[in-house]
Amino acid sequence: METDRPTIRPLCAGDAAAYALLRLSAIDEDPASFLSTREEEEKRSIGEIEARICSTANQVVFGAFAGPTLVAVAGLRRYPARPVQQKGFLWGLFVARDHRRSGIARRLVAAAIEQARAMGLTRIALNTDAANAGAIALYRSAGFEAVDEPWAEEIDDDVDREVEMVLQLR
Ligand SMILES: CC(C)(COP(=O)(O)OP(=O)(O)OC[C@H]1O[C@@H](n2cnc3c(N)ncnc32)[C@H](O)[C@@H]1OP(=O)(O)O)[C@@H](O)C(=O)NCCC(=O)NCCS
Repeated sequence: METDRPTIRPLCAGDAAAYALLRLSAIDEDPASFLSTREEEEKRSIGEIEARICSTANQVVFGAFAGPTLVAVAGLRRYPARPVQQKGFLWGLFVARDHRRSGIARRLVAAAIEQARAMGLTRIALNTDAANAGAIALYRSAGFEAVDEPWAEEIDDDVDREVEMVLQLR
């Protein structure tokens, strides 16, 4: 039923087209927060998108589904190189506008934290825009703490103030 709580599960190859669409809507909403443009994203092959979302020993992307529709995503990736392989990075959290403020992001972040523990990670880091009060409140409520003062990040002609937040798992 459409009123049911969205289901959360790791994405797989069959979700690539839905993931690409949701990511385009995220870029349209806030282009300055992404390193790639709509045009660049549209050029990605389904194979590239599958590699980005399919679970491996080092990554998972969780999706929230309202019925059959993908309405939110969040990724967790292990840092690739020693000596920081016990560190994870939370990335790409986005909830479709019509589904916000119903606890979906909170559930996705909780799923990512559980996954990080299962992967043997000792901490999770993330970056967010220092002006994104909603996201910062969400991450704080999940136990993340800002590690430093916000710093200025120049992306094209925009200057973004970024903050790094970390959750220590053990
Ligand atoms: C930020 C975002 C992911 C929150 O998703 P959501 O599903 O609406 O969040 P939840 O309903 O799980 O909210 C959990 C808590 O986060 C905080 N929060 C979320 N959105 C908020 C907002 N707009 N203003 C203030 N607090 C907010 C609240 O503390 C909230 O708890 P409450 O509803 O009990 O008050 C969503 O607004 C979004 O996708 N924004 C655009 C992309 C983005 O900013 N991503 C984060 C990049 S780092």
